[in-house]
Amino acid sequence: MKNRNSLMLQQSFIKDELLKVEDLLNKTVVSEVNEIPLIYSYMLEAGGKRLRPALVILSHRIFSDNNDSKVTKLSMAVEVIHMASLIHDDVIDDNSLRRGKLTPNYKWGNKIAVFVGDFMLLNVLNLLAEEVTSHILLPLFNSIAQMCEGELLQIRKGSCINLKEKDYMKIIEYKTGSLMSACCEVGSKLAMTGYENVKLLAEYGKDIGMAFQIVDDLMDLTSTSRQIGKTAGNDLREGKITLPLIRTYKEASNKDRDSLLNLIHAYVNNQNLLEDILFLVNKYGGIDYSRQKALNYVNMAISRLKGLKDSEAKRNLIDLGEYVISRVN
Ligand code: IPE
Ligand code: IPE
Ligand code: MG
Ligand code: MG
Repeated sequence: MKNRNSLMLQQSFIKDELLKVEDLLNKTVVSEVNEIPLIYSYMLEAGGKRLRPALVILSHRIFSDNNDSKVTKLSMAVEVIHMASLIHDDVIDDNSLRRGKLTPNYKWGNKIAVFVGDFMLLNVLNLLAEEVTSHILLPLFNSIAQMCEGELLQIRKGSCINLKEKDYMKIIEYKTGSLMSACCEVGSKLAMTGYENVKLLAEYGKDIGMAFQIVDDLMDLTSTSRQIGKTAGNDLREGKITLPLIRTYKEASNKDRDSLLNLIHAYVNNQNLLEDILFLVNKYGGIDYSRQKALNYVNMAISRLKGLKDSEAKRNLIDLGEYVISRVN
């Protein structure tokens, strides 16, 4: 097994399905143009949590016991879509480390990274279009479009220290919540369950995505690069304002607001200032506040499942929510 990183592969319940997805991932994105299989397998072998395939599988399994090969294909596809978005995101964020390895943009350059990401996306959607109908494809298309909107909104608004919490939430919903929501939507649709159930799962996925991104943003500030397999502090270095900073700025005295602003500006050239920034963030409870917000989203996600009958899949979806928040406990 190449992927030793996967959190979900350790869960015996969907282990077999995830291994099938892994197999299929290894056979997908084929091209005679060398850069494409080279970069694709480079990313694939680096690991990743395979959270999105797990969402597809569990959202299907909660409503159906049938082994449908479309579930494996969809799960493979969402991981490829996700990987393409990571390749593009690392170009945008000028990030050099991903999944513990040098990013494609740093190893092969931005131009190649952008086109390989584009190819992955179109190649996998092409494959899907041969297999599934538009009611499965459309949520995925929409989520990809929303991801782009989220990244664009972030470029326009996300560097402003005055960023409103509401706008931050919209950005993270678009860039992260929408794909996770689509994963749950297509998984449950493949189970042929009713509209209300599909809607429930889509909401669950969106809430999990919100929590996941808040946690990711927290970890960017509070973890080491080694722990997260990507460059810690990259958000600040790129001038990205995230929830802990939004909260701190909102709560801080005028004097501390000025200090925070100066520190954030100076951080770009002096990463040793992280400690001073975190001192202010902690002074105004920015970390605890953000953790609580993430927890609220996880709780909201879990509560959406309340009316569904107990099953192993349901317990796994609950566990998945708990895993998301446990990353910052
Ligand atoms: C990273 O996603 C992008 C965000 C939405 C924060 P993951 O943390 O799921 O990345 P991998 O797949 O495990 O590398
Ligand atoms: C999520 O935002 C990016 C995508 C949805 C592709 P981030 O920029 O925080 O993700 P990381 O931290 O680079 O993984
Ligand atoms: Mg990024
Ligand atoms: Mg991040």
